[in-house]
Amino acid sequence: MPHKFLRAFENSPLRYPGGKAQRALRLLRFADQSRKHYVEPFAGGLSVLLKARRERLFKTYSANDVDSDLINFWIVLRDRPNELVKILWDCYRRHGAGDDDLFLKSKENLNSDNDVVRAVALFIVNRWTPKGDLRGGMLRTEKRRSGISPMILDRLPLFSELLSGVKITNLDYHDMDIPRNSFAFIDPPYENIGTHFYQHKVDLNEFSDWVKYLNCSWLTTLNDSPFTNKLFSDFDRIAEPMKYPAVINPKFGSYQRRDGTELVIMNYHRPSRDAFLRSFGWSLRKSHPSSKAS
Ligand SMILES: C[S@@+](CC[C@H](N)C(=O)[O-])C[C@H]1O[C@@H](n2cnc3c(N)ncnc32)[C@H](O)[C@@H]1O
Repeated sequence: MPHKFLRAFENSPLRYPGGKAQRALRLLRFADQSRKHYVEPFAGGLSVLLKARRERLFKTYSANDVDSDLINFWIVLRDRPNELVKILWDCYRRHGAGDDDLFLKSKENLNSDNDVVRAVALFIVNRWTPKGDLRGGMLRTEKRRSGISPMILDRLPLFSELLSGVKITNLDYHDMDIPRNSFAFIDPPYENIGTHFYQHKVDLNEFSDWVKYLNCSWLTTLNDSPFTNKLFSDFDRIAEPMKYPAVINPKFGSYQRRDGTELVIMNYHRPSRDAFLRSFGWSLRKSHPSSKAS
């Protein structure tokens, strides 16, 4: 089995806070694969879409995120991979896996008017900050720098191929077009996530009203809290055990894992659901009618 870093990179070129890179395949086991169209309104690192594409689970795909720099990266990777990869190889020849000069220059280039330069900058900053920030506060410690490497650069064209034909939009989730015959994988920012990682927060009360009225099959992932359980108490909720990285020392970017759970909720009947739950060791909280969370 590949090391967890390689497993994550297999599913997304970006290191994404809250990303599902290591869990993509398991989550897709619960997808409604009878649908033709796959939709992801909160794209982030796109790890689940890229995995679904690799497994050829759906016919057509759409991705959306409100973050314009992130969407610019995905569009450049889809449409101009040669330009993107050429500049990154030049950076690698001049700076190796990366150094402080490259990092600082890239932070400046996040404001460039040139889409390819901006995409290169986002990629470098993302690969160089401890938790995969997009606009990057700090540099990874010497020991933890994986930055850019020939293996990573060689794989970018592969991700570009996986994105070909994917419709990519830069909208608020409310405005995304979600066709009836879709399966939507919906991964909003979790409760109490500040604007440090993502530029935008989501009001979960408003989100639950929106998602419950969608006219398609959907699966959403949420943090496990009394509030989110109450918000979705009218649905069965899968509790997925999780190892979270917890910051010990932000200055040096070191982390310690801690245990937790996350919720997986869907609005359709998945025939082998209980067999998958048993094989993964995940548990189920049955729905019960309740009042709305306050
Ligand atoms: C948890 S991340 C998604 C992670 C992704 N599933 C992955 O595996 O990498 C949440 C994403 O929602 C986006 N977002 C936040 N508010 C949004 C909004 N109002 N509309 C659309 N996207 C939004 C953020 O920019 C962020 O990329």
